[in-house]
Amino acid sequence: METVLSGIRSTGNLHLGNYYGAVRNFVKMQEEYRCFFFIADLHSLTTHPKPENLHDNIRKVLSEYIACGIDPDRATIYIQSDVPEISELYLLLNMNAYVGELERTTTFKEKVRKQPENVNAGLLTYPVLMSADIIIHNADKVPVGKDQEQNLEMARKFARRFNHIYHVDYFTLPEPFNFGSELIKVPGLDGTGKMGKSEGNGLYLIDEPKEIRKKVMKAVTDAGPDKPNAPKPEPVENLFYLLRLMSDVSTVAHFEEAYNNCTIRYGDLKKQLAEDIILFTTPVRERILEIYNDDEYLSRVVRNGAEKARESASKTLRDVREIIGYKGF
Ligand code: ADP
Ligand code: TRP
Repeated sequence: METVLSGIRSTGNLHLGNYYGAVRNFVKMQEEYRCFFFIADLHSLTTHPKPENLHDNIRKVLSEYIACGIDPDRATIYIQSDVPEISELYLLLNMNAYVGELERTTTFKEKVRKQPENVNAGLLTYPVLMSADIIIHNADKVPVGKDQEQNLEMARKFARRFNHIYHVDYFTLPEPFNFGSELIKVPGLDGTGKMGKSEGNGLYLIDEPKEIRKKVMKAVTDAGPDKPNAPKPEPVENLFYLLRLMSDVSTVAHFEEAYNNCTIRYGDLKKQLAEDIILFTTPVRERILEIYNDDEYLSRVVRNGAEKARESASKTLRDVREIIGYKGF
């Protein structure tokens, strides 16, 4: 059976981009594959979280995973820092990762541009840790959003390089994956780019209805189409993208037609979109709160997850040490 693995950094609550780009796929994949889903709390350290927030950040994402439908009895859910084998593999892989290639990755260059005051070595070697995450369970498929494509390329590169250096065919080369389609990028409501935590444009699963209405009503649009069947500018196309995700086909068709014959009122579209988002998020939010408050359940999930993940990871580490040439005395 093929292995699926993915993770999300515990740097904040999950938004609709995380859900549609990643978590929705996790839920579908757990039916058919051997699945590992984890919370990337070591990766979250690149942003220097305060010690008093670290644990709660992890707990939030964990509750949200489960509320979205990841079933701890089917998939292995675990916390990255509970599996020290990942850190050891990261160290070993770092020896064959070159500073030049790491400096050239788009995500790193973007971080250097956005936060020049905190260009730490953890950011530089972020793709190496991510590769260790993936290949430690020999994952075949990695469900992620479009923005992670390059990191997946790096993971394949490091896996291939290890196999090549040691003349083995040990690590599987992992592929990015979206259930039944291309990798996707959910747009934000600020007119350009993707929905993201650091972009501050997220619609969160945990948002209250009034918050969602407020955010959607404030979404950037334009003055409206001035001729029939006009192409949509990016901010408007983004609203339609969200409408296609959240609303039914007839609603989308209604607003498409209104756009094409220039009778559209963006206010109506936004109201409908907000209500359809609320319809989806309300039951999820209720489940998140319930799970978040259940200490006993969460602690059981985390313990079982760590045990299963370590079983698989320690086997890989034993093999890797042997391949590299470590021997017992
Ligand atoms: P963020 O970008 O909000 O900080 P993460 O980097 O933690 O979120 O991403 C976790 C997962 O969610 C990754 O698989 C990423 O590709 C996916 N993801 C994040 N934002 C989007 C988006 N706007 N559209 C599609 N997938 C996304
Ligand atoms: N880099 C991913 C993100 O920012 C999170 C992540 C860390 C991940 N390790 C991973 C995703 C391994 C998939 C597989 O979204």
